[in-house]
Amino acid sequence: MPKTHTAFRCQTCGAISPKWAGRCPGCAEWNSLVAGPPPLPEPDVLGHPDVPTSIVAVEVADHPTRPTGLAEVDRVLGGGLVPGSVTLLGGPPGIGKSTLLLQVAAALARRGATVLVVTAEESKHQVRRRAERLGALERGLVLVAELAVPRLVAHLDTVSPDVVIVDSIQAVHDPSVGSPSGSVTQVRECAARLVREAKQRHVPVVLVGHVTKEGSLAGPRVLEHLVDTVLAFEGDRHHALRMLRAVKHRFGPTDQLGLFEMTGGGLAAVDDPSSLFLADRRPGQVGSVVVPTMDGHRPLLVEVQALTSRSALASPRRSAEGVDAGRLAVVLAVLEQRVRVPTAQVDVFALAVGGVQLREPAVDLALALAVVSSQAGCPVPAELVALGEVGLGGELRQVAHTDRRLAEAARLGFRAAVVPHPVRTAPPGLALRRARTVGEAVALSGMPLP
Ligand code: TYD
Ligand code: MG
Repeated sequence: MPKTHTAFRCQTCGAISPKWAGRCPGCAEWNSLVAGPPPLPEPDVLGHPDVPTSIVAVEVADHPTRPTGLAEVDRVLGGGLVPGSVTLLGGPPGIGKSTLLLQVAAALARRGATVLVVTAEESKHQVRRRAERLGALERGLVLVAELAVPRLVAHLDTVSPDVVIVDSIQAVHDPSVGSPSGSVTQVRECAARLVREAKQRHVPVVLVGHVTKEGSLAGPRVLEHLVDTVLAFEGDRHHALRMLRAVKHRFGPTDQLGLFEMTGGGLAAVDDPSSLFLADRRPGQVGSVVVPTMDGHRPLLVEVQALTSRSALASPRRSAEGVDAGRLAVVLAVLEQRVRVPTAQVDVFALAVGGVQLREPAVDLALALAVVSSQAGCPVPAELVALGEVGLGGELRQVAHTDRRLAEAARLGFRAAVVPHPVRTAPPGLALRRARTVGEAVALSGMPLP
C-alpha cells in the first residue's frame, strides 16, 4: 500500500475511509476501496474563491442576531442566535437540555418565528405533554420525530423554518455513513451535514449533545471544532440551580453566565442568584464562610464549608466538591506551614454550597478560614465575607473586580469583609478588615490562632 495516500474512496458509493478495508464500510461492497489523495472539503463549504486583502481593507460585518426572547439565553449568546450558525448545547443527561430548548423554541415562536424541533429521543406525544407543563404550546413550534438525517433535511425544505433544533445529535444517524448510530463517526458526519445545511440556508441550528458525568463529551467533543458555539448546561441534579455558559463562541463573549432554577413549570430565570445561594445558610455555623465570587460578569455570593475530623487513615481523606482540589491542597499546606494549623492527621471535606463550581483563586481565603473555623470549633461572624488569593508564602493577594464583589456583599447585608491589605475602598455599610497574611486574616475573623 503506498504510504503517501491518506484516504480511500469507495468507487461504488463514494464513502471515504481513512483505512483500507476489503469491504466498504459505507455500502458493504467488496474490493471497492481505492487509495487517493485526502478528500477536499465539498465545494459548497468552500464557498466562493477569495482574494487576499490587507486586514485594514477588510469590511466589518456585524452579525445580525435573532433574540430568542429568553433573557438568560440571549445574554449568554451575546444577543441571540446568528443565522447560519450552529450551536451545540452540551450537558449531562437529565440536566434540562430538552426543557430549555423547548422553552427557547416557544419563546421564538411567540415572536413570530417558525421553529422546527426535531425530536429524536422522545415521541411527539411526550414533547407535547411537556410543552403543556411549560406553557410552550405555540403554533409556530413545529415538531417532527425523525432519526434519519436525509429525511430531516427534506423537512427543512417543506417547513422552511427560521430556527432548527435537533434533540439530540447522538440520536440521529445518516444511513449513508456506514457506522452504527451514536458512534463518533456518525455523530461527526451528521453534524457536518447539518452545519452545511445551516450555512447554505442561513438558518441557525441548535444541536443537543449529551455529556458524560466525567465531562468527556462522548461524541460532542469531536463536534466542538465543527460548530460555531458551544454552550455548556451545568448544575447538580440534586439542586435546582442550572448554569448556562458559552465554552466557545465565534460571535460574542464567553464570559457570560445564565442562571436558571428548575421548577415544576420548567426553567425560570434567577434574578437574584446570591440570595438563592445563601437561602439555606445557618449563620454562626462552624466551618462556614461566605465568599463574593465572580462568575463571568456577575458577582455571586457563595457559602464555602469545611469539615475536619480526626482521621483513622494513614493518608487522610481530602474531598473537594465545587471547589478546586488543587487549591484546597495548597491552602492546607499553607495553613500547616505558615499558620501552624496542622491538618495532616485529619480528614478534610470542603464544598461550595448549592452545586456551584468555584474555580477562581479568590476563594482561597474563604476556604482557609473555613478549615481554621472547623479546626478551632469557632464560627466566623455571620456578617463577614472573605476574599483573596493565598500565596505559597501565606501572603494574601488581591483579586480582580474587588469593588463589584464587595458591593454585592453590602447589598446582601454583610457588614464586614476580610480582604488583602492593598484593598482600600469599600461600599457604604461594609467595614474592611485588611490582612497581609492568612494568619492576620484568621485573627481579623475573630478566631484564635494556635
Ligand atoms: P430534560 O430537559 O429532559 O433533560 P435532558 O434533556 O438534559 O436530558 O429534563 C429532565 C429533568 O427535568 C427531569 O428530571 C424532570 C425535570 N423537570 C422539572 O423539574 N420541571 C419541568 O417542568 C420539566 C419539564 C422537567
Ligand atoms: Mg433530553
